[in-house]
Amino acid sequence: MPPKLIRGTGRKTHPLVWGFAIICTIIAIGVIVAGLVVFIGYMIIGPRVPFISVIYAKLDRLDNSQAEILQIQMSLVIRAENDNAKAHASFSDFNLLLSFHGVDIAELRNDPFDIPKNKSQDFTYVAQSTPIPLDPEEQEEVDLSLKQNKITFDLKGSVRTRWRVGILGSVKFWGHLDCQLQFFPYNGSRINKDCSTKSR
Ligand SMILES: *[C@@H]1O[C@H](CO)[C@@H](O)[C@H](O)[C@H]1NC(C)=O
Ligand SMILES: *[C@@H]1O[C@H](CO)[C@@H](O)[C@H](O)[C@H]1NC(C)=O
Repeated sequence: MPPKLIRGTGRKTHPLVWGFAIICTIIAIGVIVAGLVVFIGYMIIGPRVPFISVIYAKLDRLDNSQAEILQIQMSLVIRAENDNAKAHASFSDFNLLLSFHGVDIAELRNDPFDIPKNKSQDFTYVAQSTPIPLDPEEQEEVDLSLKQNKITFDLKGSVRTRWRVGILGSVKFWGHLDCQLQFFPYNGSRINKDCSTKSR
């Protein structure tokens, strides 16, 4: 059988393929243009993520007079800040947990609220624990804190913020708080200052 003759056909690109390539190009350009618009809009408007921070904390009372029972009271002022000059910010799902070495002390919550443009608002909390039974290890932690004149609490939680960025629509953002609040146990003064959901 003679071999089949294969003729070079100088393949033509099918018009459908061309159409597809053109559509892809248009989509790619569209994506780039949209990205540029968002980026330039972002640079011009300069949106700032609204945040909360602990601006004041004092350990009002630390009662460990009865061994293996801890009772505390702490005052906190939490500031919600909206540094956007052109956008309202709303805060919701505000939920923080104060604890001592894994022992829950108090939950700090807040109803949803709004902060106008370029404004902030302070919220005062007085976290009062019920008498907390401590296991020996936790009692040791308290003894050590008193000896070192430094007691550490954890404040953890999150808040959801939402604000408009010009024509680009509204942005939602979860702010997470995870900080240690340290005090001098004898006078209750706060030692460290930094505690904010602001990303650094
Ligand atoms: C935002 O507030 C600060 C002071 O709180 C003020 O100095 C600043 O001019 C304000 N910015 C705008 C755009 O209103
Ligand atoms: C609290 O006590 C610490 C040392 O124990 C001291 O450095 C600090 O200044 C005191 N704070 C106040 C407000 O008295």
